Amino acid sequence: RPRLYSGMQPSADSLQVGNYIGALLQWRDLQDAYEAFFSVVDLHALTQPNDPAELREKTRRTAAQYIAAGIEPSRSTLYVQSHVRAHAELAWILSTITGFGEANRMTQFKDKSARYGTDQTNVGLFTYPVLMAADILLYQTDIVPVGDDQKQHVELTRDLAERFNARYGAAFTVPIPVIQKETARIYDLQNPTAKMSKSAESDAGVLWLLDDPAVSAKKVMRAVTDSEGTVRYDRESKPGVSNLLTIYAALTGRQIPSIEDEYAGRGYGDFKKGLAEVVVNEFGPVRERALDLLADPGELDRVLASNADRAAEVADATLSDVYDRVGLLRRS
Ligand code: TYM
Repeated sequence: RPRLYSGMQPSADSLQVGNYIGALLQWRDLQDAYEAFFSVVDLHALTQPNDPAELREKTRRTAAQYIAAGIEPSRSTLYVQSHVRAHAELAWILSTITGFGEANRMTQFKDKSARYGTDQTNVGLFTYPVLMAADILLYQTDIVPVGDDQKQHVELTRDLAERFNARYGAAFTVPIPVIQKETARIYDLQNPTAKMSKSAESDAGVLWLLDDPAVSAKKVMRAVTDSEGTVRYDRESKPGVSNLLTIYAALTGRQIPSIEDEYAGRGYGDFKKGLAEVVVNEFGPVRERALDLLADPGELDRVLASNADRAAEVADATLSDVYDRVGLLRRS
């Protein structure tokens, strides 16, 4: 089977609906056709300020949500990035073939460093995409399913793989990004022209997978719409309603026109009530499964450890080959 790789940062106690729709739903559906590797990228999360105990807890919570959403650790390899040492090691090697200007063109870095200022920006944030490339390339990955905000990083990964292969021989599979066009970007419910994000300034427009369902329902009811009153998809002039339609369609597997038809001649109140119900029905069971898993952290940790062993086998083989190719002396 071809290989699939993807991951998420443990940057909050709960994933948000953008992570769920933009990534997890694809992952779940692709894990049959692909040999899949899913990581919780805790090394990446260190580029933001973190309380150590909280980071550990967020890492477990993220893993539990993968499983609760349908990633099966007996079929797919689900592990914590820092448990496989090869990630940090390959990142170093790749950093030596990455251009400074090339890294400097990453829009996510430009946005973040502009927001925090250079004195508050760490070098890890700058080399973040190189670590992400290492994640992907260690597993000889064919496809990388992500939301649209990660596309540039996967393009960089491709460039680095091609450059390394040209210089040192074919060590890496060159991966392709897979981005579901309709759901590549879920927007904030209060600010529907901004991407929904775990690090949003206000929580009012973010739907959390692990929130009390009543809270999520309330957020849907309060979502920003427009004054037209017609449930109709039009990203340009009706960003709020269009975003709600996208979420509705993704969570039910229905097509947007069929949802438009269902709510034709009815107001936004009815539409939001319908969506709130969909959200509660979808997130409720996921939340319960995740909380069940978190009630037995010892068992969860054991699952993660055995999956890390499986991941390390693949990763270590790639890393040894790379060490040989670049001319590092083998320790006898
Ligand atoms: P992260 O943790 O920010 O997001 C995880 C995944 O969720 C997607 N996503 C969204 N999709 C649609 N709408 C949104 N509003 C939305 N917000 C987030 C992201 O595109 C992503 O697919 N650098 C990565 C993690 C990473 C990774 C990797 C991914 C590290 N190594 C290797 C793939 C392969 C990140 O910070 O994702």
